[in-house]
Amino acid sequence: MGSLTVRNLSEDVKRRLRLRAAANGRSMEEEIRLLLAEGTAEVVARPSAAKTNAPARSETPARQILLIIAGGIAAYKSLDLIRRLRERGIGVRVVMTRAAQEFVTPMAVGAIAGEKPFTDLFDQHSEFDVGHIRLARDNDLVVVAPATADLMARMANGHADDLATAVLLATDKPILLAPAMNPRMWTNKATQRNLKTLIGDGVLSVGPNAGEMAESGEAGLGRMAEPLEIVAAIEQLLADRQDRADKPLAGKRILITAGPTHEPIDPVRYIANRSSGKQGFAIARAAAAAGAAVTLVAGPVTLPDPPGVKTVRVESARDMLGAVQAALPADVGIFAAAVADWRTADEGVQKLKKGADGPPRLALVENPDILATVSKLKAKRPRLVVGFAAETENMIEHAKAKLKRKGCDWIVANDVSAAGGAMGGDDNAVHLISEAGVESWPSQSKDGVARQLVARVAAELTGEPR
Ligand code: CTP
Repeated sequence: MGSLTVRNLSEDVKRRLRLRAAANGRSMEEEIRLLLAEGTAEVVARPSAAKTNAPARSETPARQILLIIAGGIAAYKSLDLIRRLRERGIGVRVVMTRAAQEFVTPMAVGAIAGEKPFTDLFDQHSEFDVGHIRLARDNDLVVVAPATADLMARMANGHADDLATAVLLATDKPILLAPAMNPRMWTNKATQRNLKTLIGDGVLSVGPNAGEMAESGEAGLGRMAEPLEIVAAIEQLLADRQDRADKPLAGKRILITAGPTHEPIDPVRYIANRSSGKQGFAIARAAAAAGAAVTLVAGPVTLPDPPGVKTVRVESARDMLGAVQAALPADVGIFAAAVADWRTADEGVQKLKKGADGPPRLALVENPDILATVSKLKAKRPRLVVGFAAETENMIEHAKAKLKRKGCDWIVANDVSAAGGAMGGDDNAVHLISEAGVESWPSQSKDGVARQLVARVAAELTGEPR
């Protein structure tokens, strides 16, 4: 095998091997054996990478764009654009149209981008290694620079007869155009009509600028924006996108109830339950971290107000209902409080005293059901109403019945039996029940449940896949 390997090596490599072996005082065969041993150890230690024709990137950059270069004289500026983007740590994957390759070579683009550009809808490289659908989606933004009149016309009409247009039609990411063309082509009604269609479709654009054209003697509006202007537009769009990803609930109002309620018997005694409020407070923190404006209506608990959350402290179920009604309207209501079902019919003004008649008889009346009341609202009903079900047996069955009875959209069911440990504990194993079915989440911290629930709420509000 060793001799086979050496025979297949180029003359240059053989020469360098010979020199290296001589310098180390080893035979060529020994030198190769050592190199193979070192190389194999390194390869085995390295996690396997997906096989691709494209040169391996050391690591995927946090921000990645797909640059489509169309066929215009301004294509030469795209090389500078790629360089400027990479300098800023933005990964650039490139698609070149056939016409673009008349202006700049794929080799020049590949050398600057650090990866071979994709050129053909049907070649093995782009279709089988990456595929135009993945090419269209595995990025944060698609930039077309230069965007020629022809490419804009084909985009506006939904063509997909080459890799660039197929990717543009298949992408679910924002598209930024940097138009570049002769001023007469730019002002032509057809181009302006196509631009209007594209803008109506949500496509963004930077430039063109006015000035000298690359063709001699031509000037006017149609010069591609300078690479640094395009970079600034890209950075702004990526930053906006990051903000939206970090704060998926920005601009949304979320109302949360948490903790127990205390129902007075007399001025010193009350009916209570073991709820610690930890789950509801965790949801309030997670929702605030996701950018929501949160109102937390909390029963008597010892937890501090979560930062950035409007916390309203209440005692009884009736106080809680009042505070909830005052906090509406909201986009989402999450009712995690363990509201006392009953209160005493007559709250003693004075402390009850022991008497000859034995222990007092407490007459109980039902408390208002806050969740059911809000679920049944007409105008002020939050778009998404989420209840909790505290169960000690037949959890799913009881929770499903509760979903129907209370008229909410989702129920988070948890086991509050002593064995379950959720009441007062730090962990929770819940099931999310909706019309669509039952989802059982793994046992995790209450913060984990809160984050998962908030992510589900955000996905529901934005309609994005979970
Ligand atoms: N809930 C409420 N107001 C009440 C009682 C309950 O808003 N007076 C809410 C809770 O915040 C929770 C859901 O209703 O989101 C279910 O609470 P749970 O105590 O599990 O159910 P109950 O309606 O009290 O029914 P049961 O005690 O019979 O299980």
